[in-house]
Amino acid sequence: MDTQTDVQSQVAEVGQVHAAQPAWIPTGPPVIHCKHVYKRFYENAEPGDDVVRRGWLKQRKREVTAVHDVTFDVSKGEVLGILGANGSGKSTLIRLISTLLFPDEGVVEVFGLDVVKHPHEIRRRINRVSVEASFFKKLSAMENLMFAGRLYGLQPAEIRKRAGAILERLGFTQSKMTASLENMSRGQQQKVSIARAFMTSPELLLLDEPTTGLDPKSRRDVQDFVEEIIVERQTTIILTTHDMPEAERLCDRVAILDGGRLVALDTPEALKRLAGPNVKTFEDVFFAFVGKDWKEVMADEDPA
Ligand SMILES: Nc1ncnc2c1ncn2[C@@H]1O[C@H](COP(=O)(O)OP(=O)(O)O)[C@@H](O)[C@H]1O
Ligand SMILES: [Mg+2]
Repeated sequence: MDTQTDVQSQVAEVGQVHAAQPAWIPTGPPVIHCKHVYKRFYENAEPGDDVVRRGWLKQRKREVTAVHDVTFDVSKGEVLGILGANGSGKSTLIRLISTLLFPDEGVVEVFGLDVVKHPHEIRRRINRVSVEASFFKKLSAMENLMFAGRLYGLQPAEIRKRAGAILERLGFTQSKMTASLENMSRGQQQKVSIARAFMTSPELLLLDEPTTGLDPKSRRDVQDFVEEIIVERQTTIILTTHDMPEAERLCDRVAILDGGRLVALDTPEALKRLAGPNVKTFEDVFFAFVGKDWKEVMADEDPA
């Protein structure tokens, strides 16, 4: 083994030890309260589908229940991971919590406020990272972050300092920070979205696949950012991911979604215990609750 690889494996080992989180003890009222939540969408029907609705111009529509009777609470300072295949409802659930969608049935409360009645107040206190992040594409990363930071009440000098430090850590050169976003790859735009979320100190951070599609070094950096926030235990975090070790390492509890339903929710250790005597890895846990092989599920995903 060469020296470089040796050092890398040592770094990885140190990271593992440092990663062990103390057991989470919930206190106070929940930051997120979801009770019997449903969200349905209507998609264009394929031949053979049950048509439930005819849309504009009489298109045939079929119903998709993206979130199906989901009930759970999240405590202040807790890190909740959400695992599930593509289309299992992770992003829809995150969008319901971030007030971008309203539930069709059930209750979603954030900070004790109903998402339907108080969306603006909730939005000021949360931040979301997602691959579909919206930016002004003609502006640069720094200009976009200036704008976003001002909305969150930060001073320009502070924004420049914090955003610059995060982007630099994620591999942005000074010239890339000031170049227009329109020619940047999805991964690079995702890093800008990450900087936007991590430069503010929201009470609730919603991370929708923050590390999917990133190079290994950037993925590690993002995981480190999350860990730094966790240490302070002031921010509640929901994290969806395809990376099992990431979920196990960062999350106090992990929820598994399958076809919009919550099929499991507990600490990583408890999920392993519940899943059965021969369960060793999180892939085994996934198989026990969903009945599908994680690697096959991931192989079916779009490479995008
Ligand atoms: N805006 C939408 N319009 C129609 N269908 C949608 C919409 N958003 C999500 N869906 C459908 O809801 C289901 C759950 O999607 P999503 O929450 O994005 O899953 P995930 O994030 O786990 O991949 C999928 O079947 C998806 O096609
Ligand atoms: Mg998604």
